[in-house]
Amino acid sequence: MKDIFSRVKGTTSVFTVIGCPVKHSFSPVIHNTMALVTGRDFIYTAMEVQSDCVQGAIKGAYCLGIKGINVTVPHKVAVMDLLCDIDKKARVIGAVNTLKYTEDGYVGYNTDVIGAGYAIKNKGYEIKDKTVLLIGAGGAANACAVTACDEGCKKLIIANRTEDKAKRLAKNISAFYDCEIETVSMKDLNSVDSCELIINATTVGFGDKAGLSPIEDKSFYKAKGVEFVFDAIYTPWETQLLKDAGEQGVETLNGFSMLIYQAVAAEEIWFDEKYSKELQEELCEKLSKYFRENC
Ligand code: ATR
Repeated sequence: MKDIFSRVKGTTSVFTVIGCPVKHSFSPVIHNTMALVTGRDFIYTAMEVQSDCVQGAIKGAYCLGIKGINVTVPHKVAVMDLLCDIDKKARVIGAVNTLKYTEDGYVGYNTDVIGAGYAIKNKGYEIKDKTVLLIGAGGAANACAVTACDEGCKKLIIANRTEDKAKRLAKNISAFYDCEIETVSMKDLNSVDSCELIINATTVGFGDKAGLSPIEDKSFYKAKGVEFVFDAIYTPWETQLLKDAGEQGVETLNGFSMLIYQAVAAEEIWFDEKYSKELQEELCEKLSKYFRENC
């Protein structure tokens, strides 16, 4: 009880995530843990907002002085019309997941891009000057493609089951980044000459596709010179892709740290302060333990 009385006071700010559905969101656990670890005086909630109420919700939140909002499915595009400014990375992706209160209104950001970059970098892997094979061309792939180009990869190869979608994504990214981008159909994956980093941003390996890998040929990793594999999936904790790559001596990382680091990036934007690598790693360790034991 004592904790509750000292935790929420008249000075306590409220941050929130809006979406529909949103009750499953892990963001309140992440940000409330971060508030405890950093000692900041805020709480973080989840609010279900229907599509016809997004405009009213954003206006109301602004009037209430809510300093930061995360936006999740299905409102990531709809909120863009309600903002006073939008950061470059969010404009490239065409979706916003973080709003910051300013005097002129909310400014929109996309921290999924930053989260993917932090996750890979904190594992000690540099994307700069590497050839990246990105598998997938949906929402998650869009963010990872921007991460790869923003971090200065040498070449980005986008592989997708539906190659037209990969081509569309490549065209969109090329309008913003001066990076060599190729596309390939998933069925022709073996035609890729070489790649050092593989990012899986498909749903292959998740849900009813658990146990499947987007790369069926286990000799692929050695044959193409793969050094690191990042899978945006984190349920299951180790996908078949990561298992196969790990068995071939390749370094691997699942998507849980991207989830944590996109939240870290949001707080850095809200509070105008960089979080140290040590703090980021402490949060990731605490939260991954909690997630694996409880979720
Ligand atoms: P998200 O927002 O999570 O990225 P999405 O936009 O629906 O989800 O994208 C899902 C991605 O997984 C797409 O790249 C999809 O390929 P298509 O564009 O061809 O649909 C890919 N995907 C889903 N099921 C797949 C499967 N069985 N085999 C290969 N790719 C698959």
